[in-house]
Amino acid sequence: MAKQYKNYVNGEWKTSENSITIYAPANGEELGSVPAMSQAEVDEVYAAAKAALPAWRALSYAERAAYLHKAADILERDAEKIGQVLSKEISKGLKSAIGEVVRTAEIIHYAAEEGLRLEGEVLEGGAFDAGSKKKIAVVRREPVGLVLAISPFNYPVNLAGSKIAPALIAGDVVAFKPPTQGSISGLLLVEAFVEAGIPAGVLNSITGRGSVIGDYIVEHKAVDFINFTGSTPVGENIGRLAAMRPVMLELGGKDAAIVLEDADLDLTAKNIVAGAFDYSGQRCTAIKRVLVMDSVADELVEKVTALVGNITVGMPEESASVTPLIDTKAADFVQGLIDDAVEQGATAKTELKREGNLIYPAVFDHVTTDMRLAWEEPFGPVLPFIRVSSVEEAIKISNESEFGLQGAVFTQDYPRAFAIAEQLEVGTVHINNKTQRGTDNFPFLGVKGSGAGTQGVKYSIEAMTRVKSTVFDISDY
Ligand code: NAP
Ligand code: G3H
Repeated sequence: MAKQYKNYVNGEWKTSENSITIYAPANGEELGSVPAMSQAEVDEVYAAAKAALPAWRALSYAERAAYLHKAADILERDAEKIGQVLSKEISKGLKSAIGEVVRTAEIIHYAAEEGLRLEGEVLEGGAFDAGSKKKIAVVRREPVGLVLAISPFNYPVNLAGSKIAPALIAGDVVAFKPPTQGSISGLLLVEAFVEAGIPAGVLNSITGRGSVIGDYIVEHKAVDFINFTGSTPVGENIGRLAAMRPVMLELGGKDAAIVLEDADLDLTAKNIVAGAFDYSGQRCTAIKRVLVMDSVADELVEKVTALVGNITVGMPEESASVTPLIDTKAADFVQGLIDDAVEQGATAKTELKREGNLIYPAVFDHVTTDMRLAWEEPFGPVLPFIRVSSVEEAIKISNESEFGLQGAVFTQDYPRAFAIAEQLEVGTVHINNKTQRGTDNFPFLGVKGSGAGTQGVKYSIEAMTRVKSTVFDISDY
C-alpha cells in the first residue's frame, strides 16, 4: 500500500478523516495519499501557530538562523531522495527536480544570513516646526505574525522555501499549504525543518484541495499575511478575501522576448529555446511570445526551430526537458491554443504532436494579435513568433498584455535596451538573456495581472515584517 503522508501540526504528524490520493502525472503510478484537512483542523493549525508566536519572535536572529541552516543542510543531504519524489509528483525532469531542492536549500541558508543583516534606523526630528527638533524616532522591524504560505504545482518545494525561510527568520510563524499535486514533496520540505528541531507550532502544514478549503484558510481572521504564488484568478480572489491584510501575490505571465535587428541571433535563439521550453514551458517566467523585427525574423525562426529539434522530449526520470503536462485539463488547454493558431493561419514550424498529456514542443511563425496565442498564458511547450516592423510596435504589443511579469530585450545596443526596458510595463527586464526569477537575492515581482508585492530574499523579509517606530522627546538641559 502506498504511503499515507501526514500533516505537521503543533509538533505532531497528524492524519485527517479524509485523504487525497496522489498519482504521478506521467504514468499514473500511485505515489501516496495526503490528508484532506477539515475546517476544524485548520482552526487547530492556526491556534497552534498563534500560541507559538511569542516564544519564536523572542529568539534572536542568530538562534532562528541556526534552525534554518540545519534544515537547509538536511535538504542538501536529501536532495536526491526528495528530488526523486518531486520529479514523479509534478512530472519534472529528475535533474531539474533535484536542482529545485538544492536551490531551496541555498535560499534557506541565504535567508538565515540575510536576517542577521537586518537593520533598523534612527531618524532625527527637526525637519518641520521647531518642536520637532526635540524628537527622535527609533525605527525597528517586527514580525507580522502568522504567515499563510501557498505554493504552486510547478515549484512546490522551492516556492514554499522562498516564503517559509524569510518568514521564519523574520520571527513569523507559518502555515504552509502546498499545491495538491506537489503536496507530498511539500511535506518532505516540512520534514527537513522538523528534523532540524523547529519548535512546535512554528511551522505547520495544511493539505487539501484549494477549491475546497482555499477560501477558508485565506479568509480566516488568524492569518496576518498571505504569501501566494499561483494563477491570476486564484490570486485575485485571495486579494479580495484578504481585505485589509497585507499580501504577496506572484501570478501568471506572458513574458515577451523583443529581438532587434542587431541582436546576436545565435545567443538569442539559445536563450529563447531554453526560456520557452524548460520544464515544458510550465514556468511563470517562461518566454511566452517572441516579438521580432521583420528584417531578422526569417533567420531567427530558422535558428530557433533547429534548436527545438534537439530538445529532449520524454519522461521525467529521463530528465527530459519536455515531459507530460501536469494534467489533462492543462494539456487540453494548450491544445486549444494550438488549434486556434492553426485555424487562424499561423505557420507551424514543428510537427504538431500529442501523446496523452505529452505535447511536443511547438513553434508558430506569423502569429497575429487576433490569435489567442498572442495573449493567453499556455503554461505548456508552445512558442509564438509575432513579427513587428518597429520597436514601438513591439513595446505596444508587450504592454497590451493583461500580465506584466518580465520581458527580455536582445540587442547589442545597451543604451537602446535600457530605453526599451524603461518603457516595458513589467517587474524585470533581462538584456540578452532569457526571462527568469533568479538570482534569488534579486527582486522578483509582477505588475498588472502578474501580482502585487516583491519577492527576493531581502525583499520577502521586508514584506513579512512591519516597521515599528518608537518616538522619544529629548529633554532640555
Ligand atoms: P493555482 O491553480 O492558482 O494554484 C496555486 C496554489 O493555490 C495551489 O496550492 C492551490 O491548491 C491553491 N489554491 C487553489 N484555489 C485556492 C483558493 N481558492 N484559495 C487559496 N488557495 C488556492 O496555480 P497552479 O496551477 O498551481 O500554478 C500555475 C500558475 O501559477 C500559472 O498561472 C503560473 O504562471 C503561476 N505561477 C506564477 C509564479 C510567479 O512567481 N509569478 C510562479 C509559479 C507559478 P490546489 O493545488 O489544492 O488547488
Ligand atoms: O514559475 C515561476 C517561477 O517563479 C519561475 O522561476 O524563472 O527560476 O524558473 P524560474
